[in-house]
Amino acid sequence: MFVARFPASLPYMPPELADFLAALERTFMDGSLVKLTLVPRTPNAEPTLRRLVIRPVALRAGPRLAMIFHHATRDETHNLPLDAARQEIANRLTREFGRAYLFTTAQVLELERSDSGEFHLRRRPPEHATPADWRHDRVRHYLLDPRVPWLAALGVTHPDGRVRESRAAKFRQIQKFTEILSHQLTGLPIPRGEPVRLVDMGCGKGYLTFAAWDWLHRSGWKTRVRGIEARQDLVDSANRIARQLGCEGLEFETGTIASAALPEVEVLVALHACDTATDDALARGVQAGVAVILAAPCCHKELRPQLRAGPPLDPLLRHGILRERQAELVTDALRAALLEWAGYATQVFEFVSPEHTAKNLMIAARRRVPAGPAEGRAGKVRALAAAFGLRTQRLASLLGFPLVEACAGTAKPREPDRA
Ligand SMILES: C[S@@+](CC[C@H](N)C(=O)[O-])C[C@H]1O[C@@H](n2cnc3c(N)ncnc32)[C@H](O)[C@@H]1O
Repeated sequence: MFVARFPASLPYMPPELADFLAALERTFMDGSLVKLTLVPRTPNAEPTLRRLVIRPVALRAGPRLAMIFHHATRDETHNLPLDAARQEIANRLTREFGRAYLFTTAQVLELERSDSGEFHLRRRPPEHATPADWRHDRVRHYLLDPRVPWLAALGVTHPDGRVRESRAAKFRQIQKFTEILSHQLTGLPIPRGEPVRLVDMGCGKGYLTFAAWDWLHRSGWKTRVRGIEARQDLVDSANRIARQLGCEGLEFETGTIASAALPEVEVLVALHACDTATDDALARGVQAGVAVILAAPCCHKELRPQLRAGPPLDPLLRHGILRERQAELVTDALRAALLEWAGYATQVFEFVSPEHTAKNLMIAARRRVPAGPAEGRAGKVRALAAAFGLRTQRLASLLGFPLVEACAGTAKPREPDRA
């Protein structure tokens, strides 16, 4: 039995930890293991340690688990046989690591250790369709080539195309965004000769703006990509890089999400625009009638003070952290429902794994053609708002949608404004 093999240094193994390690062993043996990631608690005894990533590798000496310790400025790898690796993982999970994610082709297992030392095990649908490549010297295939010069100019990669250790999470985010953009655009009814114009609202340094331009450009679309950003210094530096590298059809402008000019645009992107700036971006996209909107919201403050819930749901809001999380969920559910009402088929999904960032939710909306009847959708928005006592919300106001029934009148999605 598995428990018999538990390291002697730990006299009792909590069942959740035993299940987790058993799943690691099973998937290592049957080949369905993708990787295991351990996230340290903060603070911990090794302040430079960022995470431990474990992958199966086939070495001449036999199958091993490569344990890659990612520190702030360096990586350290130890290849261990299964038994030794399992013992090491068990010991570390009761000390410096607070969370662990086991990625397999069948599921994601998430193990969390609370401050009181209790383990909680959760299961999620798989995020990977193919198991790990066991080759020691495997070549990675990226949708976005890490050797493109703009990634180096933005400090994500070294000049030779190696991803900087400290920017690995950013690189993964850029790759994932490119993948999502490619999926969303692949089915669009836009012939290759026609332009795909994209605007990135609140583009910051322009990581995703460059990525979108690069992918569109390489995929043969006629394209014009614009980044809108409030900070002049970021706009200047992004324009300088775009000019130096000859990125034709890519430009950055100083402006605000709410007021920047929005001429003909097919795709609107807004990632991590703070609080209601996401609503401003969504409303601009709807009002301009763009074909695709991709938004990753962050810091949801607006609805927190308004949220109410009657019995039996009132415990959802009793504690500060629950109220905060509930506000995030309700805000994004309301945004998705409003986009549906406005004629957009909307999906909400995890953008990058929560092991990398908590700001990991993506709202992807595609304009329905034809839009279809809106009435049933208006009722759904109002029912959701009523269930949580909401009277106003920025996106609803910007779209001219009264959340409260008494003054609901006959709100209809507005015809797109073509500036
Ligand atoms: C967290 S950063 C995200 C940058 C980029 N979208 C990304 O995900 O890499 C948010 C950026 O949006 C800009 N920003 C926030 N509110 C804005 C607004 N209302 N109009 C224009 N830019 C805004 C900030 O200056 C900042 O550079």
